[in-house]
Amino acid sequence: MSVLGSTPRPLSVAVIRGDGIGPEVIEAALPVIGAAAALDGVRIDTTDLDWGGDRLIRTGAAMPEDGLDTVRRHDAILFGAVGHPDLDPAVSVWTLILPLRKGLELYANLRPVVSWEGIWAPVRDGAKVDFLVVRENTEGEYSGMGGRAHRGTPNEVATEVAVHSRRAIERIARVGFACARDRGQALTLATKSNVVRHGYGLWDEVVFALGAAEFDDVPLEKMYVDALATRMVSRPESLGVVLCGNLFGDILSDLGAPFAGGLGMVPSANIGPGLRVPGFFEPVHGSAPDIAGQGIANPHATILSGAMLLRENHCPLGAMTLERAVAVAIRDGARTRDLGGMATTLEAASAVAEALADAVALGSSSTYEPSLTAQDDIPTARANAD
Ligand code: NAD
Ligand code: IPM
Ligand code: MN
Repeated sequence: MSVLGSTPRPLSVAVIRGDGIGPEVIEAALPVIGAAAALDGVRIDTTDLDWGGDRLIRTGAAMPEDGLDTVRRHDAILFGAVGHPDLDPAVSVWTLILPLRKGLELYANLRPVVSWEGIWAPVRDGAKVDFLVVRENTEGEYSGMGGRAHRGTPNEVATEVAVHSRRAIERIARVGFACARDRGQALTLATKSNVVRHGYGLWDEVVFALGAAEFDDVPLEKMYVDALATRMVSRPESLGVVLCGNLFGDILSDLGAPFAGGLGMVPSANIGPGLRVPGFFEPVHGSAPDIAGQGIANPHATILSGAMLLRENHCPLGAMTLERAVAVAIRDGARTRDLGGMATTLEAASAVAEALADAVALGSSSTYEPSLTAQDDIPTARANAD
């Protein structure tokens, strides 16, 4: 129910623009996210944090030592991208985005992929895609454990230790099952337990046991990730919720991006259900150094991440209206070059703002809210509630 007219409830959002196209897409997206929040009677108060590659080069640290405390004082974090052209990419990653995801224990990474009207996608017979990748976000191949010995010699070796704990598998599986139940879809577990038998064997055991004990109403299937990759390409419409470990989730979400129109269209939420931590919302794409600074980056993935931020922070009307506004804007031609159009980043975001304003204008009529609640053609990724 819109509470326009009453005193707005504040929602504090830490904004980290980051590197490359990060600042451009955030700049374009912020006003529309704010306008959408107003539909739920919410005012977004932002704190700009200049964290990222430039700060690291200037001061030696991408974020301050008490950075986690700073973001914990907010309701949510909106993030652009990491990856500074003058830095080793691994340094960019391990000094900002991973410390935030891991430090806040944002163990669930939700990455929805949907078809958009008017956007070409590599599907058969106009099939509609609507799947959600639920990715474990704190361990697996991203544990950070490992090292190198005998550097530079023919005997050089490197280890990269994948960590899979029962606790982490169980809590992400719970999110996966809850999402599948909420979306009325099957849960597909993607592992590689036929070869990587210890870690992914544990995944299979834990997920199936949890399914039998608590989610026997949710259809559950297991696929080896290699076969799943083929299915994702050949029959993406057959997928509902895909549950996987950290590295597989990273790869599968980029693999799925073309069904939404490309990386510029895929949002994500990093959340820690039950942990009372701010969620971290960001486009799936990176800093795109090849197009940075040109004002041509697609802002929609960031805007849609804003919609996920709103939904997680009890602004369901704003979230749904914003997703609907993106759909209307791109259907009507607000397409950047990656979508085959000529719109700039700011033009594409302005078109969303206009579509949103049209929806708000309709809101003055009594038909506004029912017509929105009927918009079930715009799929969403609802995280399980705390
Ligand atoms: P990328 O996602 O930055 O770019 C891949 C391709 O997609 C590029 O051609 C790029 O131009 C295009 N693209 C991405 N976002 C777009 C958008 N919004 N609009 C239009 N086109 C878009 O991936 P990459 O090139 O492999 O990585 C570049 C840097 O970003 C690396 O340093 C990497 O570590 C980092 N990275 C960061 C994140 C993140 O912050 N979450 C994600 C992926 C990569
Ligand atoms: C992503 C990125 C990150 C990941 C990197 C930048 C740490 O590729 O968000 O998909 O691998 O998770
Ligand atoms: Mn990635």
